[in-house]
Amino acid sequence: MDQRPPAEETALDRLTALVAGDLATVNEVILDRMQSPVELIPQLAGYIVASGGKRLRPVLTLACARLCGHDGSRAPMLAAAVEFIHTATLLHDDVVDESDLRRGQASANEIFGNKPSVLVGDFLFARSFQLMVQDGSLDVLRILSEASAVIAEGEVLQLAASNDTGTTEATYLQVIEAKTAALFGAACQVGAVVAGAPAEYEEAVRSFGVKLGMAFQLIDDVLDYSALQARLGKTIGDDFREGKLTLPVVLAFSGGDETERTFWRRTLEEQDIRGDDLDHAIALMRRHGALDATVERARLYAAQARAALDGFAPGTMRDTLRDVVDFCVDRDY
Ligand code: IPE
Ligand code: IPE
Ligand code: MG
Ligand code: MG
Repeated sequence: MDQRPPAEETALDRLTALVAGDLATVNEVILDRMQSPVELIPQLAGYIVASGGKRLRPVLTLACARLCGHDGSRAPMLAAAVEFIHTATLLHDDVVDESDLRRGQASANEIFGNKPSVLVGDFLFARSFQLMVQDGSLDVLRILSEASAVIAEGEVLQLAASNDTGTTEATYLQVIEAKTAALFGAACQVGAVVAGAPAEYEEAVRSFGVKLGMAFQLIDDVLDYSALQARLGKTIGDDFREGKLTLPVVLAFSGGDETERTFWRRTLEEQDIRGDDLDHAIALMRRHGALDATVERARLYAAQARAALDGFAPGTMRDTLRDVVDFCVDRDY
């Protein structure tokens, strides 16, 4: 799946293998529905689709559908709708974040420009809604349209909070719940809906997804400072250069003395970033244990995600979903 496969089989590999047949259908639907007579659309969409990605969200939809007893053919179409929403947000996010690397290759905005990226992102959003309409479930439409609105709110809230060292942990958590956890929750909930699961199971898998999404984004925000760029496939330090107040920064700032706060204000607020400022920022985070504390926070959400599946019968699907939670915390890409 990923273009830089790890040497050892991960929990995500195992979960992906459990839904491999359905995932192959998802990939066919994606390739089919990104087509358009307007050539630039399949060119750009094909570029980001071919770059891979973990396919984590559609795998969650498929796995939660199975966990809830679904054995029909609706899940792959809706999992494709979920991945289209994710892909659209990535296209838009890389424009907003001015990121030049995604999935180990130049980002779509870098290759095709900002305007085509935004417009093709809109196209993929619209395609995802066409898939939902074709499925015909108003519940699914409600869940994924709500998630789409919430993602956009999260990205706008983050933009409004950027370059503001007064940003609180509460605001940060609100941002990541909206921009990331909402889609994880919706992806899982849709799986339960197509399975016709009772309300308490639907709520349980939604909660599982939301908590997993929180842990996932917390780790993403650690990796932005700590990962090996070639492994992550994204540029290290993007968040710093963009003045994003992610939890590692919020914690380092609140623990910092006046000299340190002056540094954070110059770099994040005034966006006056010099030669080795990123290295210095990372050193300050390490001094205050801010990266470790963020990983610990992710572990708390991970424990809640695992617990959310308590009501399901033990079995390979439940166990592997739980292992994927640990994978998301321990990942380095
Ligand atoms: C990236 O998500 C966006 C975030 C929520 C951090 P992924 O890390 O799941 O992206 P791909 O699809 O695997 O590239
Ligand atoms: C991820 O935000 C959330 C969305 C794409 C909506 P980030 O900006 O942290 O994700 P990366 O690091 O670019 O993947
Ligand atoms: Mg980004
Ligand atoms: Mg990030």
